[in-house]
Amino acid sequence: MKKGTKKSTEIRSAARKLLDQIAASPTAYHVCANIRRELLANGYRELRESEPWELKAPGGYFVERNDSSLIAFFPGSRPSAGYRVFACHSDSPALKLKESPELEQEGYLRLNVEKYGGLLCAPWFDRPLSLAGRVITDDGTELSTRLVNIDRDLLMIPSLAIHFNREANDGYKYSIQKDLLPVFGDAADKGQLSSLISRTAGVRAEEILSQDLYLYARDRGTFWGAGEQYLSSPRLDDQECVWCGLAGLLTSDPGECTRVLCVFDNEEVGSGTRQGAAGTFFADVLERIEEASGRSAEERQIAIANSVMISADNAHAVHPAHIDKADPVNRPHMNGGIVLKFSANQKYTTDGISAAIVRKICRDHDIPLQIFHNHSDLAGGSTLGNISGTQVSMTTADIGLAQLAMHSPYESAGAEDVTHMIRFARAFFDVIS
Ligand code: CO
Repeated sequence: MKKGTKKSTEIRSAARKLLDQIAASPTAYHVCANIRRELLANGYRELRESEPWELKAPGGYFVERNDSSLIAFFPGSRPSAGYRVFACHSDSPALKLKESPELEQEGYLRLNVEKYGGLLCAPWFDRPLSLAGRVITDDGTELSTRLVNIDRDLLMIPSLAIHFNREANDGYKYSIQKDLLPVFGDAADKGQLSSLISRTAGVRAEEILSQDLYLYARDRGTFWGAGEQYLSSPRLDDQECVWCGLAGLLTSDPGECTRVLCVFDNEEVGSGTRQGAAGTFFADVLERIEEASGRSAEERQIAIANSVMISADNAHAVHPAHIDKADPVNRPHMNGGIVLKFSANQKYTTDGISAAIVRKICRDHDIPLQIFHNHSDLAGGSTLGNISGTQVSMTTADIGLAQLAMHSPYESAGAEDVTHMIRFARAFFDVIS
């Protein structure tokens, strides 16, 4: 990519926007709040699960569950054409604050945490961290939720010096309880955490009844490499797919199919929650759409039979130092375009039919496509596509963008791939199968 060309400026500005969106979204709650803001700005109407739905007004709608999962949809002109569903996840691996987190040790004040999801421990050390999430408050009349982001360098998890463990570079088994508790201050700061949180939330400390707060890495996203062709940021898995899916939805043209963006929480812990892909959120929303539109149970089944889902979650790029971990042939590279994932045991949902749909979109729209297979001797990961399929069964393909250092608090991907995914999502919403 030649620098300074119109195309390179477009690619750079799409990637820059992604990095800004991720920086503003340290937790799944912030992801949903920021998507909500963009949807409202684009004329989408907010629905609540606890209220009746009226879908007469033209345009798009959205609904949230638990403030951490969100489904947006734009009804199509021909209901029997079905749904085009782009599904991704709002959460990323992190360390979550336990109850009564302040822990005094040797004159230091540390915070008691436990792990959320399959995080890589080592990169959480020796970098500025902070806290974000939500608090639930009681103002005397009702409970309400407030987002919190302590927007400054607040915490650190210091490494043990090599002088005390000469074998540190030969591998180390981390104890979350012993090694991963961040330093918050000294003994004199005891009691400060709750006042810092309540001040940030704009409420009195005694109003806060409970909280869901997570550590997050403070590093900002950056471009790097000889041609600045790579980018790094916290939470690329899976916010890269989230924000590209949203951009695709907002720039696609209304068509016959109902376009749906599903952003599920809790993929990193198996999806088995009320708001996760294994819960009933998506099935419930489809039922509400069909019911509010006055369609019969049979018409609903016809719509679902004609539907296609894309399960979009980032994929592993081949690591230059560990090519032995990759399939000998089907090994994606950063900036190589959309990654179509296959797994014979159906951890990835892609099959011949759904692969053909993805290939056709990429061929018709000149979007580069590459393939991921696990090395045949490795189990590999899984994602939300096959889990969602147990609740609502549609033709589904698993895709993603190639990245390195998955589940590190600072991951790397290809800057050009952002544009590829936005273009793919846009084209997918219009596809007729
Ligand atoms: Co993921």
